[in-house]
Amino acid sequence: MHSLDAIFKPRSIAVIGATPRPRSIGREILNNLFANEFNGKIFPVNPKYEYIHSTKAYPSVTNIPDPVDLAVIVVPAPLVLGVVEECAKKGVKGLVIITAGFREIGPEGAKLEDAIIDVAKRHGMRMIGPNCMGVIDATPDVRMNATFSPGVPPTGTVAFMTQSGALGVAILLAVQKLGLGFSYFASVGNKADVGAMDLLEYWENDAHTQLIAMYLESFGDPRRFTELSKRISKTKPIVVVKSGTSAAGARAASSHTGSLAGLEVASEALLQQCGVNRVSSIEEMIHVVAGFVGAPMPRGNRLCIVTNAGGPGIMAVDAADGHGLQIAALSEKTRAAMRKVLPAEASVDNPVDMVAGAGPDQYERVLDLVLADDSVDVTIAIFVPPLMIEPLEVMRRITRVARAHEKPVYSVLMAEESYYERIPREVPDAVPIFRFPEDAVKVAEHTNRYRLWRARPAGTVRTFPVDTARALSLVERKAKAGGGYLAPEDTHAVLGAYGFPTVGHAVVPIDGDLRAAARSLAFPVVLKVVGEKIVHKSDVGGVMLGIRNEKALELARETMRASLSKAGVLTHATGYLVQEMAGDSNGKEVILGVAQDPKFGPLLMCGMGGRYVEILRDVAFRVLPITDLDAHDMVRSFRSFPLLEGVRGEPRVDVEFVEELILRLAQLVDEIPGIQELDMNPVIVTPTRAGCRVVDARIRALGA
Ligand SMILES: Nc1ncnc2c1ncn2[C@@H]1O[C@H](COP(=O)(O)OP(=O)(O)O)[C@@H](O)[C@H]1O
Ligand SMILES: [Mg+2]
Repeated sequence: MHSLDAIFKPRSIAVIGATPRPRSIGREILNNLFANEFNGKIFPVNPKYEYIHSTKAYPSVTNIPDPVDLAVIVVPAPLVLGVVEECAKKGVKGLVIITAGFREIGPEGAKLEDAIIDVAKRHGMRMIGPNCMGVIDATPDVRMNATFSPGVPPTGTVAFMTQSGALGVAILLAVQKLGLGFSYFASVGNKADVGAMDLLEYWENDAHTQLIAMYLESFGDPRRFTELSKRISKTKPIVVVKSGTSAAGARAASSHTGSLAGLEVASEALLQQCGVNRVSSIEEMIHVVAGFVGAPMPRGNRLCIVTNAGGPGIMAVDAADGHGLQIAALSEKTRAAMRKVLPAEASVDNPVDMVAGAGPDQYERVLDLVLADDSVDVTIAIFVPPLMIEPLEVMRRITRVARAHEKPVYSVLMAEESYYERIPREVPDAVPIFRFPEDAVKVAEHTNRYRLWRARPAGTVRTFPVDTARALSLVERKAKAGGGYLAPEDTHAVLGAYGFPTVGHAVVPIDGDLRAAARSLAFPVVLKVVGEKIVHKSDVGGVMLGIRNEKALELARETMRASLSKAGVLTHATGYLVQEMAGDSNGKEVILGVAQDPKFGPLLMCGMGGRYVEILRDVAFRVLPITDLDAHDMVRSFRSFPLLEGVRGEPRVDVEFVEELILRLAQLVDEIPGIQELDMNPVIVTPTRAGCRVVDARIRALGA
């Protein structure tokens, strides 16, 4: 027995607050339980009525003679706590609290919600809600529709969870129209107890569930979500709409990493890292779900388009461009065979344009040829009905030939609205049908990306022999001093302790002896201003490169003082950093950084670095833990990755070392929790590992 079986697999349900009043929630839920022929006992509870829905009603759950597994509660908020206590006395094990008026309304409501969850926890009751629209278990042995959404949801293989009740109803209706079915549906409301992770775990091994779809507003515990969805998505696709990621989430941060991070970035990183198919709208979610459950998984990314109209065919090709899909090159054998069944004006290249007259026969025969072609992995069949051809017959034929092959076919029917509603009834087991070519291509992109994820090995979280104690002591010392940026020498020491190659350097007080400091270094050197408040040194003339001798160094100090004074930051300068010049003409600048996200924890960033990082924004983010494969993918996701590989005769830089530095940084922030923010920009990466150097870094410690 799983603790959530009391909610999803009850043998008896009490609807507390049931009423015969038309169009009331208490009535709709009772109706839906009966209409869906729940496979168990239903007890209406309301002290005002003797019978409701021709069924004996009880004044309280404690009066019901039989055991009650699940209580669906729709009484007004002030009465809920009392009802939950009665349920506890009765030995009820599952609660679905529909009623609103708790945490979502403010502190008073939150107090009431906490009291309810306290009773539930003390009596081992699991609870969905409050403030939700109910749950469905549409599997054949249960047939429980404990929601107030109109209509009977068809049974299927999709388990759906929503954090928004209203969206839940919209999705239930949309899915019914498409003939898609649910195994389970849960509107979690304020998720005071049961949340996304509980449901992911519950549906992980459920035999009726082939795909899990979620509308999320928050992740709860992002790290746990990552762990679970990484595991589950290896066997079942997870499709997520994540809202609440608007730009407002971005924080005013002082570091490069901080200013580039934000809620949206963090969500995207997390979902990508765990193989979840993220979609940007409810509509796209329904399309992707239809694509996954209505067709086999593709074996590759080679796409063939079959159409009776040129325009939409080209739209599909355009939409496929740059989305991980290839336009398949059909074999001569296939093209020759198609020429035999198509008119001379048809095109047998890809997209295959059968021209307007193409009817059910042509669709079936041409698709049969295309699906048999080894160069094709996924097919989109587009039909724009001319007057004389019956669209549903074409859909039937497309479905018939598609089911005869083990390859996905997504069809696009650009027809009058009424046809779509008829399809679930008149074209049983229809292939996924979309209204526009772009929708079908998007689905092909998602299923292909999921295919790659499933094929991808898990990767390893690698760690290195490092001096954690040294780094920890330096960060803790700063934390005890109230936090803030570590001094340049300590920053170099922390990075050195974790194997980051830093440049030879010396820190000199504002009026100190630069010449003496430079004597321990090799020219050319770089002079930089030091000052906790001076974040971007170059912007105020605080960086001077290529200094060849001591005389030039003194001159550089004078020039810099003048610039700092002109920029009005001379008073912020506490000293100078003299550094050896690193890199060579083949070096490339990358940025590595960490920002702490209040929800997600450490967010690790890597990307193309240097002074224009905020302009180029060519960076990638990941949440911890990070595997070697994550680091590999991260680097290859940069738009300018070819620069690291070497272009225009330039040599390839040590890309593998960049991947290793990502893993070392992940280990650093995992083992040294007091780091609030960390920026290395740039890390100069050269063709050889020996030449790579971190030349600019800042670490901000959290105050103790
Ligand atoms: N030691 C060095 N060797 C070579 N180039 C350097 C060195 N230090 C800085 N630079 C170059 O100067 C630029 C600005 O220096 P940086 O220390 O990053 O200042 P900022 O505070 O403006 O980020 C770097 O992006 C890099 O191109
Ligand atoms: Mg810099």
